[in-house]
Amino acid sequence: MSRVIVSPSILSADFANLERDIKRVENAGADWLHIDVMDGHFVPNITIGVPVTASIKQIAKLPLDVHLMIENPQNFVEPFVKAGADILTFHYEAVEADKIKSLAGYIKSFGVMTGMSIKPKTNVKDVLPYLTDLDMLLVMTVEPGFGGQMFIEDCAAKIKPVREMFPELIIQVDGGINAKTGKLCRDLGANSLVAGSYIYKSDDIEKAIISLRG
Ligand code: DX5
Ligand code: ZN
Repeated sequence: MSRVIVSPSILSADFANLERDIKRVENAGADWLHIDVMDGHFVPNITIGVPVTASIKQIAKLPLDVHLMIENPQNFVEPFVKAGADILTFHYEAVEADKIKSLAGYIKSFGVMTGMSIKPKTNVKDVLPYLTDLDMLLVMTVEPGFGGQMFIEDCAAKIKPVREMFPELIIQVDGGINAKTGKLCRDLGANSLVAGSYIYKSDDIEKAIISLRG
């Protein structure tokens, strides 16, 4: 399989020194920058929005991997694309089933990569019909909302059946990822790993990123 895409979550960065902390992961060999957008409704936390994403775009070299944990994601596709998103991921649970295909097509029409994410309690069987319309499935291994939570191992079992059915799909995993849980996910077929606290709390960021690539 292709090389694993490592996407550090800047949620664990020091927001007063965001440029410094973005450069740290860029210089350490990260592939994408994971930006966690939360609205205080879909998840019980508020984080980064459109203006901060646009400012990040001014200084970042890496593709912006934007994870929308918001209600009504359709209303924010164009603003985040204009702000510089290169990969735009919405949550399956935030969209009515009969609107998912058109939302995926709408995101694609802007020429960005399209991802869909599932929360821990969502059954992976429910999303199989949509995966041909997507570039990426993001499997959450914590309840979305906060960094630094414990990896929920049961969620990782969703990876293998999807990999067997969709060899080309990017399968990204987010939540509680470290060297050990990252390996477990890679062995099941994941090829993109998000990590916030593991990377930013590490003494050697480059080593941490290499350890995720395996
Ligand atoms: C959680 C976010 C994650 C978070 C991961 O809702 O989607 O991207 O930053 O943080 P860690 O790697 O610390 O679990
Ligand atoms: Zn995330």
